[in-house]
Amino acid sequence: MPAGLEVKNSPTGAGRGVFATRAFKKGEEIERCPMLVADEDRGDDLESGAEGYVFGWGDGRTALALGYGSLYNHRYDPNATTTETGDELVITATRKIAVGDEIYINYMGTAQTGVWFDVL
Ligand SMILES: C[S@@+](CC[C@H](N)C(=O)[O-])C[C@H]1O[C@@H](n2cnc3c(N)ncnc32)[C@H](O)[C@@H]1O
Repeated sequence: MPAGLEVKNSPTGAGRGVFATRAFKKGEEIERCPMLVADEDRGDDLESGAEGYVFGWGDGRTALALGYGSLYNHRYDPNATTTETGDELVITATRKIAVGDEIYINYMGTAQTGVWFDVL
């Protein structure tokens, strides 16, 4: 279990989410998630049955995050960001996060470009 984090249902109604069990400072690394990266022509196989949980991973590839990486919910004004480093996804705090806060990332774009679900 990644330190300082827990998974529980989000009070927003967005299903499970990742919550802080300790405070994180702005700029602090929250989690380093190993990625299962599909071969270029096997992305659909990885996504099948896990739609909405995979990441685009450069060169048109698709990857599933281990740890809690595939369980962070989305916000257009998140408190964390993601960085791809080789075969890891690094989650970093973009502002101060208090104990009990839900940790959000921005899946993509802006409120204008949208995501595939109604944002709560
Ligand atoms: C990567 S999963 C996140 C974990 C998911 N909440 C769960 O319970 O497994 C992405 C899915 O969570 C939901 N989700 C994430 N952020 C949301 C939000 N802000 N509002 C509503 N649903 C959200 C959507 O159903 C989306 O397809």
